[in-house]
Amino acid sequence: MKSALYSTITRLLILLLVFYAVSPFTTAAIADPISQEQLEEIHQLWQASTHALAEVNCSSCHQNQETKALIVKPNQESCRSCHEAEVETFLFGKHGIRLHENLSPLTPAMANIPMKESALEKQINCNTCHDVHAVNTVVAAVDSCLSCHNDPHSLNYKKSQHSKLFLAEGKLPRPSVESVTCATCHLPRQETDDKVFVNHNNTYTLLPRDRMVKEVCMNCHGMEYSYNSIFDDELVETNFDRLPKLHLETIELVRKLEKRRSSQETQD
Ligand code: HEC
Ligand code: HEC
Ligand code: HEC
Ligand code: HEC
Ligand code: HEC
Ligand code: HEC
Repeated sequence: MKSALYSTITRLLILLLVFYAVSPFTTAAIADPISQEQLEEIHQLWQASTHALAEVNCSSCHQNQETKALIVKPNQESCRSCHEAEVETFLFGKHGIRLHENLSPLTPAMANIPMKESALEKQINCNTCHDVHAVNTVVAAVDSCLSCHNDPHSLNYKKSQHSKLFLAEGKLPRPSVESVTCATCHLPRQETDDKVFVNHNNTYTLLPRDRMVKEVCMNCHGMEYSYNSIFDDELVETNFDRLPKLHLETIELVRKLEKRRSSQETQD
């Protein structure tokens, strides 16, 4: 099995190399032709990845499964056969919707909210947050976001209790369910009948605003604490660096109603 796997990889490596060596498109279509070193690097990233362990190899993504044609730069369609839910949700959030509409990928240059100067031309696709060859989810959960996002709320995250929980985990292969990363709130894990998947629609928990309360905060905090935090604009801006001070009227009303109802019940 192992040797069969390796021969497939070697074949594809050679195929890729030959492609880059002889292709008239090399310089036209791709700014930097791939060097032997880059290939080695890609191979090493892949070898240490979850994909290598699961026998997902170069050809799983770089070869059209029907025509067997080589795909030099695969897109999200190469992930779909194995990660349908992630691809679908990604395409319906702000990050992915342009691809869904067959437009060029979203870049920070198009944004209204503050973005890092150095990232203005970076395109968003499956490769952006977790390098597709390493498929790293820990880097994807915070550091990748901060390579683009540059608004006060995002920048303040690292000072929060939530961030401390995440940092305390050290080098786990995946963020755990006990910590809170940017992704915990914006790309929440969701349960379907047979598995948990990461909802890649980064607009989902923002609209309506209190969806995040039920989907995320209440896994760890009470309802009142959560509502009073989410609707406190200052607390959102500082990325939840103190206890909530807000006392939402609706919650007061619900409480009064509950009190009245229970006192009526005891009178009956
Ligand atoms: C999980 C799917 C997947 C696997 C497995 C995979 N690749 Fe890729 N690869 C991609 C995607 C997607 C891109 C395009 C990235 C981008 O958008 O620039 C890519 C890009 C590349 C590139 C072009 C890089 C560039 O900058 O133009 C090379 C070369 C490459 N892969 C080689 C390999 C080799 C060799 C292997 C096996 C060791 C491999 N890939 C395994 C998905 C994969
Ligand atoms: C042939 C099937 C297959 C293809 C194609 C594939 N994957 Fe995977 N992927 C897997 C399997 C199997 C796992 C490990 C089990 C799991 O967590 O589902 C995995 C895990 C992952 C993980 C989680 C890694 C971790 O450390 O837990 C990420 C991220 C990922 N894949 C991204 C991608 C992206 C992006 C693409 C397309 C460029 C892609 N995959 C293409 C099968 C595939
Ligand atoms: C905005 C950043 C970002 C982009 C873009 C992105 N991902 Fe992810 N992805 C993440 C993060 C963060 C996690 C881990 C979240 C967690 O574990 O809580 C993740 C996890 C995953 C997993 C593991 C899910 C699981 O349930 O085990 C897969 C598979 C995956 N991504 C595939 C993709 C595919 C396919 C694309 C392109 C359609 C993509 N990702 C684009 C950030 C991103
Ligand atoms: C390549 C740069 C880039 C990366 C990496 C990135 N984003 Fe974004 N993100 C953007 C851009 C551009 C927008 C659109 C902003 C606008 O339209 O003003 C955006 C929008 C958002 C929005 C607002 C969505 C909405 O519907 O208004 C959220 C939330 C968000 N990103 C969270 C994240 C998180 C969490 C991560 C990491 C897991 C991440 N982003 C990674 C560039 C990026
Ligand atoms: C504990 C949950 C939580 C964490 C952690 C978190 N956010 Fe947010 N984020 C929110 C809430 C709540 C809002 C405000 C929603 C609103 O205004 O309707 C928000 C808003 C945003 C927006 C602005 C969307 C817009 O259109 O104005 C971006 C971008 C964003 N977050 C990115 C990030 C990044 C990047 C990180 C990590 C560095 C992060 N967030 C960490 C909860 C969180
Ligand atoms: C995985 C569990 C978890 C999730 C999910 C979570 N938190 Fe927290 N949160 C904690 C822990 C643990 C602390 C630190 C100890 C404490 O204050 O309870 C904390 C602290 C806080 C604090 C106080 C910070 C301080 O400095 O005193 C606020 C406010 C807060 N969270 C709001 C939220 C909101 C709003 C959400 C949802 C958008 C959320 N949290 C999601 C676990 C979580």
